[in-house]
Amino acid sequence: MNTPTTNPLRVGLRQERVITPQCLVIFGASGDLTHRKLIPALFQLFKQRRLPIEFAILGCARRPWSDEEFRQKMKKALGKEAKDNSAAASLFLENLFYESVDLQKSEDLIKLARRLEGIDRVKATHNNRTFYLSVSPNFYGSGCKALAAAGLLNDPKRSRLVIEKPFGRDFGSAQTLNQLVQSCCQESQIFRIDHYLGKETVQNILVMRFANTIFEPIWNRNYISSVQITAAETVGVEERAGYYESSGALRDMVQNHLTQMLAITAMEPPGHFDPEAIRNEKAKVLQAAHLADEIEPWKCCIRGQYEEGGSKSDPILSYRNEPGVNPNSTTETYVAMKLFIDNWRWQGVPFYLRTGKRLAKRLSEIVLTFREAPVHLFDAAGGCPTSNQLILRIQPDEGADFRFEVKSPGSGMRSRPVGMEFSYEESFGEPSDEGYVRLLADAMLGDPTLFTRSDEVEAAWRLYTPLLELIEDSPWQLPIYPYESRTWGPVESDALLSKDELLWRRP
Ligand code: BG6
Repeated sequence: MNTPTTNPLRVGLRQERVITPQCLVIFGASGDLTHRKLIPALFQLFKQRRLPIEFAILGCARRPWSDEEFRQKMKKALGKEAKDNSAAASLFLENLFYESVDLQKSEDLIKLARRLEGIDRVKATHNNRTFYLSVSPNFYGSGCKALAAAGLLNDPKRSRLVIEKPFGRDFGSAQTLNQLVQSCCQESQIFRIDHYLGKETVQNILVMRFANTIFEPIWNRNYISSVQITAAETVGVEERAGYYESSGALRDMVQNHLTQMLAITAMEPPGHFDPEAIRNEKAKVLQAAHLADEIEPWKCCIRGQYEEGGSKSDPILSYRNEPGVNPNSTTETYVAMKLFIDNWRWQGVPFYLRTGKRLAKRLSEIVLTFREAPVHLFDAAGGCPTSNQLILRIQPDEGADFRFEVKSPGSGMRSRPVGMEFSYEESFGEPSDEGYVRLLADAMLGDPTLFTRSDEVEAAWRLYTPLLELIEDSPWQLPIYPYESRTWGPVESDALLSKDELLWRRP
């Protein structure tokens, strides 16, 4: 098997843009995201030689670490990667610096500004700065204000701000946060992250749809009868009960990741491949989307929570028994719902969304089911002919699968379904990069295409407002159904589809 550096496909196919000299400042540098995602993604960029020589990472958090301590901790965070690439890891770690900063203290901001000037001199980073807010969402607003007050966001060409999700917790709070952030800097400086947009397979939806002529003519209500979007996880709440208890699956996954997949699947073709053209089309489709029943939203949504499961040797705790979770918690770990999009392309086509933790498989996919053939000329091997399906596999086994009927071998004329597959790994010889690799590079390049604009975030929150209000005001109307861990969620969610004579896909 080819190693990544010698793989000819990789050398031939990758076309990378050049990141300008700069300092990436990570607030929340002692946190989980920095260890698990950001530093590994930056190391990946370093190994791919995508970072300029004049580059620095300044980690900031309240802890009083030295540069050296920070480097050691990040080396540990890289784990096996650092061991397997020890020379590259040592060079990479030399670009890491640390400053103890409390964003609430103005004296710390003065200290930070001085430190950045020092880094600019030593590393020749030319005042180009990307500030990454990987802090608790409660500090997004005050963090922006503090950076603006210290003059660190003044230059719209040289300073950028990356903000993690969740951006607000409902329509009102997202609107308020947008106003606050936009009062600190220009919209062009703001990069709201949704890491699903960093996944190759999500971006590939755009390429499949708009670089081929065969899909677009049939990508509409005349040919497609329904769409299912699934993000299933096998993990539970892990160590994040503090955050998850007040979030739940609807806020944690649906409002952002699933809604972005919906927007990219359903949007109109943009006039150009340019950030605003793409984001305009995504915003428009979200503005046209609505719950299947906005007056009685409990009829189009099912919530669930995981119970014990697993095996004797590998038992799984119920959500309510997880560390940090309220034993009477009514937070949903599963949610399924039905939406419609009121426009010429999609009128009347149901979009079913589902996500959950502790489900049977880790899997994210989008399934487009095509209308049945108008006349059945042939007997079907399985009793009735199956509808054609295009399955876009976001993860794992990234790729796509087209299911269609063919003749079963033999003297009769029976049909049976088969699949035609595209696999990223087989075609390109390597698995695709983690979403954060792409998004960190794009933020540092100043390319906002794969980041959510203020109107998109607000439209996504507005879409779920009837459900969020119901959960807040009369939760008994949207009960939490228990489901056994390692299954496909509460049986009640099957009814959402069986009412429409459909089934969830269970690969
Ligand atoms: C995060 C959620 O945004 O996405 C997590 O907060 C979830 O709860 C994660 O586990 C899923 O991401 P991925 O890339 O593993 O599908």
